[in-house]
Amino acid sequence: MEGIDLDSVLEEQDKIPAPADFLAGAVVADPAAARSRAVQDSEAFWAEAAADLDWYRKWDRVLDWDFPFADWFPGAECNIVHNALDRHLETWRRHKVALLWEGEDGHRQVFTYAELSREVGRLADALREMGISRGDCVTIYMSICPQQAIAMLASAKIGAFHNVVFGGFSADGLRDRINDTQCKVLVTADGGLYRGKIVPLKEAADKAVAQCPTIEKVIVYERCGHGAPMTEGRDITWEEAVAGRSGNAKTEVMSAGDPLFVLYTSGTTGKPKGIVHHHGGYMVGTYLTSKWIFDLRDTDLFWCTADPGWITGHSYIVYGPLINGATVFMAEGSPDTPDAGRWWRLIERYGINILYTAPTAIRMFMRLGEQWPSQYDLSSLRLLGSVGEPINPKAWHWYHQVIGGGKCPIVDTWWQTETGSVLITTLPAEAAKPGSAGFPFPGIDADVVDKQGNSRPSGVGGYLVVRKPWPSMLTTLYKDPDRYREVYWEIVPGMYTAGDAAVRDADGYIRVLGRMDDVLNVAGHRLGTMEIESALVSHAAVVEAAVIGIPDEIKFEVPKAFVILHSGYEPSEELNNELRSHVADQIGKIARPASLEFVDSLPKTRSGKIMRRLLKAQERGELVGDTSTLDPGSVPVDQDEPEGRSRG
Ligand code: PRX
Repeated sequence: MEGIDLDSVLEEQDKIPAPADFLAGAVVADPAAARSRAVQDSEAFWAEAAADLDWYRKWDRVLDWDFPFADWFPGAECNIVHNALDRHLETWRRHKVALLWEGEDGHRQVFTYAELSREVGRLADALREMGISRGDCVTIYMSICPQQAIAMLASAKIGAFHNVVFGGFSADGLRDRINDTQCKVLVTADGGLYRGKIVPLKEAADKAVAQCPTIEKVIVYERCGHGAPMTEGRDITWEEAVAGRSGNAKTEVMSAGDPLFVLYTSGTTGKPKGIVHHHGGYMVGTYLTSKWIFDLRDTDLFWCTADPGWITGHSYIVYGPLINGATVFMAEGSPDTPDAGRWWRLIERYGINILYTAPTAIRMFMRLGEQWPSQYDLSSLRLLGSVGEPINPKAWHWYHQVIGGGKCPIVDTWWQTETGSVLITTLPAEAAKPGSAGFPFPGIDADVVDKQGNSRPSGVGGYLVVRKPWPSMLTTLYKDPDRYREVYWEIVPGMYTAGDAAVRDADGYIRVLGRMDDVLNVAGHRLGTMEIESALVSHAAVVEAAVIGIPDEIKFEVPKAFVILHSGYEPSEELNNELRSHVADQIGKIARPASLEFVDSLPKTRSGKIMRRLLKAQERGELVGDTSTLDPGSVPVDQDEPEGRSRG
């Protein structure tokens, strides 16, 4: 198979050096030296990072690798919450602010490390009393608020693993995730504010729980106080649950390899995959990447705009920054409520130093215009980050100039739910290239290869892979180790295959081009085309459906659906709207197709698989007919690759 020469599509990329005054105090002053040290002995490198943290018992070995199953720090005992909270209480950080939150209505909550630890301890006690202990699962369904983080930490503290479900998912999405983990307790909120309205989380939770036989208790944090329905005997308010508790709950001693959380993410089947992370390795990965990539210092106020319901929030709102003893800012609600100046006002008001957000937000603000950020003093910012999708150079430069005032390094961080922490980025003290994520993080053996695993020459696209295990990697798929092996370690034999296409330039910078499989990236959110198709066919009118991603200026891509109707149903605008809303009801608003077309047939392979590539080509007005020549430019996939191959 021939690689696709991408020279023609790679524009000449400029290199933006880190500002001189930044270099002076950088946490990692010499990234190249750090990398070469890690290359010589990556296990020693990770062990050195691990030694910065507290362990109840030290590891016997750094890694046991029984391909493709990794056991990081075997023999070690720890608890990530001990490192995120307990250990800070013994230091001057005891009274340092850990979390600072502002609601969409301006309501504010502040927790010092001592206060946060107390609240975590109180909820941990309540959960214990409900019968939750080591190895149990707690599902959390809330909008962005400190209590969401507290619920995660409380679960981990007592050795339970958490299953956070994004508050934007519908009742059905929540139900499926609860039923998969068979969990007994759900922690939710009466609602959350978004664009001035109450998101009725409790109503959705009730609908879900009605079909979740294992749920015994529902803890409800009253964020909005609008009188959400409560079911007697099952539901208890957060206040009631923690009342009278001291907060001195014991932190459970865990093995490094004990599960910390499961987080569901989309793959190429209709069923999301449960990604499993563990106390020890995940703790080391999120600790070091937070410190080095965001140049985290004790004086910083760090704002990651993600929702803790996604991996970005798990790793860079909750665990990584708190392990580092940082001060974390969280904001509820929409960036444009009450107006498009909200984020910039928050940065000015609180003096935020580090902003970590997604290109889709940057492009939205670009469209709204410079007049919004220009009204505010953003000079407290000293570092900017990007995550979730490729950032186009135009958005990069706008972010750099308009938000960063030309003086902040930008880290374009590539990673995934599966990787647990950032794997590819420049470190802030080195030059960035707009549009390129950069280099593998020290200790990460990432490469761009062909199907056989041979490195691609520079300028030639291929599969983005990681050759060796890393501490914060997923170690399996929940209850499905076979699928784990097949999805991640067999596409390019012997290597972790991320599902992304990438290209490396002559200077070694890796540019991530996008997904190679049937997974969409809508405004930085990952959605499987088959999940949306399953949602469509669950409607009585639909016989069959196919979904593809079409490019979108703000959201990177949006779903477009092709639908065949049952006889007796006629295409109409009403039905079109109804079907798109049906997807929103089934999965969540983020999955709602931007457009939907009624068709009489769908292109299929001889084995009956829908040829989404063909639909995409048609959409772009490309010649169709000989499918072997389709889609050559967008991603450098092997042309002999079967359509709809297994990618999880
Ligand atoms: O396609 C890549 C894209 O997001 C995918 C991972 O999605 P998820 O597991 O939801 O995690 C998102 C946040 C970590 C990747 O396979 N992606 C993420 N970051 C970047 C990116 N694509 C290009 N550049 C990035 N910086």
